[in-house]
Amino acid sequence: MIKKEMEEELNRQINEELFSAYLYLSMHAYFESIGLKGFANWMMVQYKEEVDHAMKIIRYMHSQGARVKLYELKEPQHEWNSPLDAFEATLKHEQHITERINGLVDLAEKLKDRATYNFLQWYVNEQVEEEENDREIIDKLKLIGDNTNGLFMLDKELAARKYTPLVQEEN
Ligand code: FEO
Repeated sequence: MIKKEMEEELNRQINEELFSAYLYLSMHAYFESIGLKGFANWMMVQYKEEVDHAMKIIRYMHSQGARVKLYELKEPQHEWNSPLDAFEATLKHEQHITERINGLVDLAEKLKDRATYNFLQWYVNEQVEEEENDREIIDKLKLIGDNTNGLFMLDKELAARKYTPLVQEEN
């Protein structure tokens, strides 16, 4: 059984994950607007993954008989100064999500909520991967600098990213 305090925080996390999706969809539109289709593809995959992250919490809460509530989404930023600026904002946002997940784990420990504690471990691992992916792209963008050829090569690389539903039968 999930206690009220945890239920409330999980509902807030659903909002955080859906806002992440909204932010990355906005970045998808930004990259489309500057003609970087590969970057736009990467952000579209990211958007879908974030919706999956929210759905995973929703399904878990329903399996525990908890009440899911959806809150208003903030308006995301629409413009960035450069691809590097957008990816630095992405990393910063993911670091914020990591803090949120850590807070949820602390709360599960405090409430001795073993099921939610175990459930959250998937998110702990996912955040390590998310931050690593962002750092890798930031490093490449820094190396590329003002080199247009380098930027187009990276765009091609990011075009290859494919979306894999989190759990096949759930989607
Ligand atoms: Fe769902 Fe990118 O954290």
